[in-house]
Amino acid sequence: MKRLTRNLLLSLAGAGCIAASVQVAAHLNDKEPMQSYRQSYFTLLAMNFGPIGAMVKGEMPWDDAKVKLFANEMAALGTMDVSRAFAPGTDKGTTRAKPEIWENMDDFSAKLDDMRQAVAALQVAAGSGDRKIIAEATGAAGKSCKSCHDEYKAENYLY
Ligand code: HEC
Repeated sequence: MKRLTRNLLLSLAGAGCIAASVQVAAHLNDKEPMQSYRQSYFTLLAMNFGPIGAMVKGEMPWDDAKVKLFANEMAALGTMDVSRAFAPGTDKGTTRAKPEIWENMDDFSAKLDDMRQAVAALQVAAGSGDRKIIAEATGAAGKSCKSCHDEYKAENYLY
């Protein structure tokens, strides 16, 4: 009995290790940490922005508390200095980041700043609880994502 429990624990520990290493391989590529970092950052933004957009469009039941929570998360992400994720030399690898970013870093940074302001404004709008104001701020935030993607994000992986 004792032995069986021990074997069971060992096999569970082994399974856990495998699961953990698969996850690491999927989300953090040790050879391209900055590419992984920026993709994770934008994933976090999108996972909060998606449901707000869906609620504004009426595709998801409206939930004031969730709008506030997700807008707060986005505003917190907006305070992060994610610029090091675009450090020189991180243009290649598993990425959709176009090489133009590194040729126009000032413009790219300005677009990042626009997004930061737009998500800060969305947080204020969400705090008001006024659906019309929230819809407008959501639209403005969405434009700030799109205006950067249009120029600097490719549809598919580039390399
Ligand atoms: C200043 C430019 C810029 C802004 C602003 C921006 N993005 Fe992006 N986004 C990028 C770039 C560049 C990539 C590609 C990163 C890579 O593949 O290395 C990207 C990738 C993504 C991805 C794919 C992540 C993945 O799985 O690889 C999503 C989702 C995303 N952005 C959502 C958003 C949302 C939502 C917003 C607005 C709230 C936003 N982005 C604002 C430049 C921007």
